[in-house]
Amino acid sequence: MRTQVGIIGAGPAGLLLSHLLALEGIESVVLERKSREAVEGTIKAGVLEHWVVDLLRETGVGERLDREATFHDGIELRFLGRGHFIDMRRLTGGKGVTIYAQHEVLKDLIASRLEKGGTLYFGVSGVELDGLNGPHPSIRFRNHEGQPQELVCDFIAGCDGYHGPSRSYIPNRREYLRHYPFGWLGILAEAPPAAPHLIYTNHERGFALLSTRTSKIQRYYLQVDPHDDLAEWPDDRIWDELKARVATEDGFHLVDGPIFQKNIVAMRSFVCETMQYGRLFIAGDAAHTVPPTGAKGLNLAAADVVKLARAFTRYYQHHDDQGLETYSAQCARRVWRAEHFSWFMTTMLHRIPGETEIDRKFQLAQLEYVVRSEASAKSLAENYVGLPPDW
Ligand code: APR
Ligand code: PHB
Repeated sequence: MRTQVGIIGAGPAGLLLSHLLALEGIESVVLERKSREAVEGTIKAGVLEHWVVDLLRETGVGERLDREATFHDGIELRFLGRGHFIDMRRLTGGKGVTIYAQHEVLKDLIASRLEKGGTLYFGVSGVELDGLNGPHPSIRFRNHEGQPQELVCDFIAGCDGYHGPSRSYIPNRREYLRHYPFGWLGILAEAPPAAPHLIYTNHERGFALLSTRTSKIQRYYLQVDPHDDLAEWPDDRIWDELKARVATEDGFHLVDGPIFQKNIVAMRSFVCETMQYGRLFIAGDAAHTVPPTGAKGLNLAAADVVKLARAFTRYYQHHDDQGLETYSAQCARRVWRAEHFSWFMTTMLHRIPGETEIDRKFQLAQLEYVVRSEASAKSLAENYVGLPPDW
């Protein structure tokens, strides 16, 4: 088999890249380890930056989003029993918060690729890369029936997430990693929305986040020990803990309901430099991971592949490889900005095991500053709704 760009991974990075390349007339093949059903059914985060929403609309995959997403003006920060609304639309000159689950974005991208005749292989295994320094690198893999295949490409895009193999083919890479000593227990529950915006709470008992999916389904999170077993978290305990953490002095009432999905995720900050070796380019979680508190994961993956698609377009349409040569350097500034913002939100909002009294005082001082200072709130808002794609 032969293609121009061989893409490993059908997450947001790989699928959006394939979609953007197709719009420029560049051929790609996407190889995904999981089944289509598993990709479309895996529950992840759900906040889209302002420019990502525009991009999905402008490139023809925003129709269902416009019908089904939830649009908010800002977020609430809650601490010491009080809520403080950060009006992002006012602070950023009109940019709001869009909540549309990641797997819904993936469903829309998969449907669009298949409708336009795109080639996606689900259920592949044993992916190995070869010839990265030559003109025709190749990907060896087994298809869903276990048959060995080889895909010969001009370029390979490693969009295979934090656990994927692509990154390991970059020799002399430098990796930066921090594990956080807590994780998030996430639930989907049948209940009405808690508020017309997301609520991020810093409470003595730990962080909690109230997010939403639809008018009938809510997505809530609790800070837990990352080694906790889900069996330790029966539904009643989850509701008791959520209610205790989001309580306010003026009697905020959280409505509960049947929980139909639960998971626990670990949190890390991770960056791999560089993001290129020969004809291999890595993007998204394969190159960098953020803790979910800043809601940046999908958005940062999208910013990478916008740059990568533009670099491939320049190569194929103008025989100019400048964009490809500078890809990693071009990504670095935004990657570190998003990494820092995600670390900032995480450390401001969670209880850190082993923290001392002075750490808590510092945290509260930062929260007070964000909700009282226009300049500070504006900085948080600018980062949260998303810096422009070229930043
Ligand atoms: N072969 C083929 N596919 C693979 C392999 C492999 N060896 N290893 C991993 N994959 C696939 C995974 O199954 C997954 O579908 O690559 C895809 C990577 O997707 P994500 O992990 O979602 O990463 P990315 O597309 O970079 O998106 C980043 O998505 O998962 C969130 O938290 C993440 O929000 C962030 C964003
Ligand atoms: C979500 O809705 O899943 C969500 C929202 C905000 C975050 C993380 C996740 O910061």
